[in-house]
Amino acid sequence: MDIEPPATKKSKMDSNGEASYIPVQTPTGENSANLSLIFSLKDEQGSLVTSLKPFQDMGINMTHLESRPSKSNPGSEYDFYVDCVCPPDKKEDLLSSLRANSLTVNILSRDPGEDEVPWFPRKIAEIDRFANQVLSYGAELDSDHPGFTDAVYRARRKQFADIAFHCKHGQPIPRVEYTPQEIDTWRTIFTNLVDLFPTHACKEHNHVFPLLQENCGYREDNIPQLEEVSQYLQSCTGFRLRPVAGLLSSRDFLAGLAFRVFHSTQYIRHYSQPNYTPEPDVCHELIGHVRCSVILFAQFSQEIGLASLGAPEEYVQQLATLYWFTIEFGLCKQDGQTKAYGAGLISSFGELQYCLSDKPEVRPLDPFKTSLQTYPITEMQPVYFLANSFEDAKQKLMEFARTIPRPFSVRYNPYTQSVDIIKDKSSVQTLVNDIRYEVDILQDALRKLD
Ligand SMILES: [Fe+2]
Repeated sequence: MDIEPPATKKSKMDSNGEASYIPVQTPTGENSANLSLIFSLKDEQGSLVTSLKPFQDMGINMTHLESRPSKSNPGSEYDFYVDCVCPPDKKEDLLSSLRANSLTVNILSRDPGEDEVPWFPRKIAEIDRFANQVLSYGAELDSDHPGFTDAVYRARRKQFADIAFHCKHGQPIPRVEYTPQEIDTWRTIFTNLVDLFPTHACKEHNHVFPLLQENCGYREDNIPQLEEVSQYLQSCTGFRLRPVAGLLSSRDFLAGLAFRVFHSTQYIRHYSQPNYTPEPDVCHELIGHVRCSVILFAQFSQEIGLASLGAPEEYVQQLATLYWFTIEFGLCKQDGQTKAYGAGLISSFGELQYCLSDKPEVRPLDPFKTSLQTYPITEMQPVYFLANSFEDAKQKLMEFARTIPRPFSVRYNPYTQSVDIIKDKSSVQTLVNDIRYEVDILQDALRKLD
């Protein structure tokens, strides 16, 4: 799965239709609103009444309510903008009820100290709230897509989109019977790439590939099932795959990584151009990402995801750019030679050769400069970034991620599959206790080694 490169989600909107936050004045001139948000309704009768009921039930005073034609949510005719005075202890319950009854909820401001912190999932099941908010592709194709005029292909894409739209956390990913034509497309890509791997891919990739052949049915005559691959990944990295219909926003895609969830497409590119796709497809995911971001970069991918939670939009975009130039299109030095490790390279017969030719520009990886580089998404990259080693790339990106400003720290709790927010004495104390427990295990292990 790829992520949308430019900023695509606004936590604030402009006044000409998509709203900017205007503090509400009480009769005394005091700013009364401590919570401002925009939500869009589900297409159901009485949905506005249902969405507003929690305000009444919890005794939360709305100081402003207005509707605007929705531009950002195709499934909703109107967005509703609310200012309210919400006691801190009711805030999470209110947001939770609103999210359950609305298509989308965007928070515009919170209490002093938490201003402008965008919503992010705290529990793995909350990924369900954004997994269907694809920005492009899905069942609809652009006019320059190779399958645009092929009615059969478009109907097939609709089937895949429906699978993704109906998928919920905890459910197995439905099996797909790929057609002989789809398997032929896979075969062409698979056999071409396998021939190139020994000379063009980094050695870590070449080490992992036989494991996928052995455990997940990676063969030239078989497109592996996402569910089988997902189960294998969970057993060795804790990552799981989740089907998605098209491109997610950068923020949503990275948030999935924080929970070790990798959003993966399930459809295959159009048969007429097996060596080109303008969008991620199952070949890109299974051949490129499963090996790179989910096995070799598992911990690193999760760290990037955790760094993105609640981060300011410009930093999320910079993280997404770094993800692009490393996990998607990264090069590294190995035994005096340049090798490819990025998923977008490993899964592209043409670009895997092109990236190691003398045609593109290659610059040293420097996250503080690389994160500002622009790039095309449907063409071969004019610029690549070279890391001194595979480990060097991970190290440098982690250093960058730690510079992101955020008024709290986060930690993934694998027992509850949730994100712990560390921002006060009590949460720090809990963390200390957990670390103490781990240190006890370490000391015990060391004693036994002695
Ligand atoms: Fe990708």
